[in-house]
Amino acid sequence: MINRGRRLRQTQSIRDLVCETKIKKSSLIYPIFIEEGENIKEEIKAMPMQYRYSIDRVYDEIETLLKLDIDKIILFGIPKEKDCVGTGAYVEDGIIQRATRAIKQRFKDITIITDVCMCEYTSHGHCGILDKNNVVDNDKTIKILSKIALSHVEAGADIVAPSDMMDNRVEAIRNTLDSNGYINTPIMSYAVKYASSFYGPFREAANSAPSFGDRKTYQMDFRNRNEAIKEALYDVEEGADIIMVKPALSYLDIIRDIRENIKLPVCAYSVSGEYSMIKLAGANNLIDEEKMIIETTTSIYRAGADILITYFAKDLARFINEGKL
Ligand code: PBG
Repeated sequence: MINRGRRLRQTQSIRDLVCETKIKKSSLIYPIFIEEGENIKEEIKAMPMQYRYSIDRVYDEIETLLKLDIDKIILFGIPKEKDCVGTGAYVEDGIIQRATRAIKQRFKDITIITDVCMCEYTSHGHCGILDKNNVVDNDKTIKILSKIALSHVEAGADIVAPSDMMDNRVEAIRNTLDSNGYINTPIMSYAVKYASSFYGPFREAANSAPSFGDRKTYQMDFRNRNEAIKEALYDVEEGADIIMVKPALSYLDIIRDIRENIKLPVCAYSVSGEYSMIKLAGANNLIDEEKMIIETTTSIYRAGADILITYFAKDLARFINEGKL
């Protein structure tokens, strides 16, 4: 009677047989930062072992990924010049447009997801166009976002991922893609994106911190749960194909809520702060880095994620190859 459950835990082989969470390499997406210039592979100080690459240096990294069977990347661009309307985000020779074309030309088997947002391209660092009171103008912004998404798809992006959190942007992007003939390009919507301190290292990496104020008027309040379901339902109605929750680790309850309420694939984004906390604690021998990566990642999948964007994607693929995961 007493050891009913324990019988299934007596050997590793039996534990593996009955384990409920199995992580597949095909569900991993690796983020890559691309910078203007040549011969650049520069480590991001706030994110040990993550780099900013110029286009000519990114090919080696992609080869490494493909050898590990990781064939999905999400690209973030760091333009040379910014202006108040984020022109660099949608021009044909913008950093993401050029990188996408160059990567697609060399690697037929890679799936490119592009982050659709303005914050890396605006001089003020906000995710949209500002009105005269310095407030983001939602409706003007979604027109630009549609242009950005179209320019990415024209360059060869396979999936577009709007991360700006404007209202009605999924519908606007869907309409633009459809009317230009891209009816089969999926939209992975950052539907549930909280205003979070966990993005700190990314903003250093992408040089995208807002120069004044914060993103609380368009990103979500982390005290709210129902609002996450509401936001996700809107995006489903507008035509999103994949729903994202971001960040991941402090939001496992939200991932579970979305899993149970939304009948679309759920993607979690384990963000820069989650990565750097583990990396730096590991480097200082405060934790066992490898075990920590495995445990935290498993918890995200156990919560209900089908897909994971993570800076640990290469480590995870290695752990899977070594039978540790
Ligand atoms: C762009 C964007 C951000 C992240 C992904 N896309 C930054 C932000 O919203 O400030 C964060 C990713 C990370 O922290 O790893 N809007």
